[in-house]
Amino acid sequence: MKFFVDTAEIDAIAELNDLGMVDGVTTNPSLIMKSGRDILEVTKEICDLVDGPVSAEVIATEADDMIVEGRKLAKIAENITVKVPLTWAGLKTCKTLSDEGTMVNVTLCFSANQALLAAKAGATFISPFIGRLDDINLDGMDLIADIREIYDNYAFDTEILAASIRTVNHVTEAAKIGADVMTAPPDVIKKMVNHPLTDKGLDQFLKDAAKAGIKIV
Ligand code: G3P
Repeated sequence: MKFFVDTAEIDAIAELNDLGMVDGVTTNPSLIMKSGRDILEVTKEICDLVDGPVSAEVIATEADDMIVEGRKLAKIAENITVKVPLTWAGLKTCKTLSDEGTMVNVTLCFSANQALLAAKAGATFISPFIGRLDDINLDGMDLIADIREIYDNYAFDTEILAASIRTVNHVTEAAKIGADVMTAPPDVIKKMVNHPLTDKGLDQFLKDAAKAGIKIV
């Protein structure tokens, strides 16, 4: 499973990237707003830092304008993935930019049929939003499973990018189902290391090492 980090905070990306945990980055207008940075500047910095795909989202709503924005974003760096919403205009933009050789991430996916359309339009990634479905008392993981089944039935190349991940359990479940990629905020990725039995076991080992006077260096 590829790990994308869902943030536009350079320091947080760099910290995880140094550990080899970052296969790509996803941003959206809300994350750019949180960073307080200019979208073109911060996106360029992220692209320079990370080898993998970096999603940057258009803000236009008409296809012609989205295509102009997408082409501008694509010029930032070779690893840019243009992110478009799952609307007809977004799908049209997806088809045009994909045909030009630009990676496209179709975002705000909340149904299997939407994911099917995105694959037909040549999306590189489809982003089903798990947490936001859970928010309205649906099961976001059911959507990941449905898309996996449909894409496998027809051997679509579009990668399933499990998004709106809020918990470490979301990561486990998405991995079990076979999402190709997950994107999560840095704090969720960092929480994945935690286990009380690891802490308890280490505590005992350290006590015993002290009792035994063990020294390594
Ligand atoms: O990857 C999509 C993500 O940024 C949305 O997450 O928590 O705002 O639903 P959230």
